[in-house]
Amino acid sequence: MEKIFSTTVHNLDETEKLAEKFASLVRDNNGAFVCLYGDIGAGKTAFSRFCAKHLHVKEKVTSPSFVIINEYHSGDLPVYHFDLYRLENEGVKTIIDELTEYTKDGVLTLIEWAEFSDTELPFDRIEIKIGYVSDTERSFDFYAIGEKNKKLVEGLKH
Ligand SMILES: Nc1ncnc2c1ncn2[C@@H]1O[C@H](COP(=O)(O)OP(=O)(O)O)[C@@H](O)[C@H]1O
Ligand SMILES: [Mg+2]
Repeated sequence: MEKIFSTTVHNLDETEKLAEKFASLVRDNNGAFVCLYGDIGAGKTAFSRFCAKHLHVKEKVTSPSFVIINEYHSGDLPVYHFDLYRLENEGVKTIIDELTEYTKDGVLTLIEWAEFSDTELPFDRIEIKIGYVSDTERSFDFYAIGEKNKKLVEGLKH
């Protein structure tokens, strides 16, 4: 998968600015399917929450750890937020067919702990890898599969 854009943010405000920009590109793109990677506390939920906020979702996005999916319909487009942590590797494979439903245009799907291999996940997507640098600093690497997604992520450069 092609790495398109990398940046390091220095605090939570900068994470919000990055998510705001990303959200506006998602809106222009009429949705996206996004997998988020990173250790516990990296900021997957924080980034998801800021994306939803800047798509004008009224509710506060919380971690869906115990329900697998939360959905929000009060914003510019429907936001589906998955946390697959509890499913572990084997379980994740069992929901790939169901996930395909969430790849449609016009929705933003955000997935935490999507430990899929490339062969397992047969659709275009964006992958965001978040790395812990220090207490408040995080690295963000954006990858994309598919022309539309590449263009979307390219938009982060300017
Ligand atoms: N620059 C930053 N970006 C994201 N989170 C940050 C940042 N600096 C500090 N944090 C803190 O790190 C934690 C990230 O938690 P969370 O988003 O729940 O992580 P994850 O979903 O990856 O487990 C939060 O407590 C958040 O306030
Ligand atoms: Mg989380």
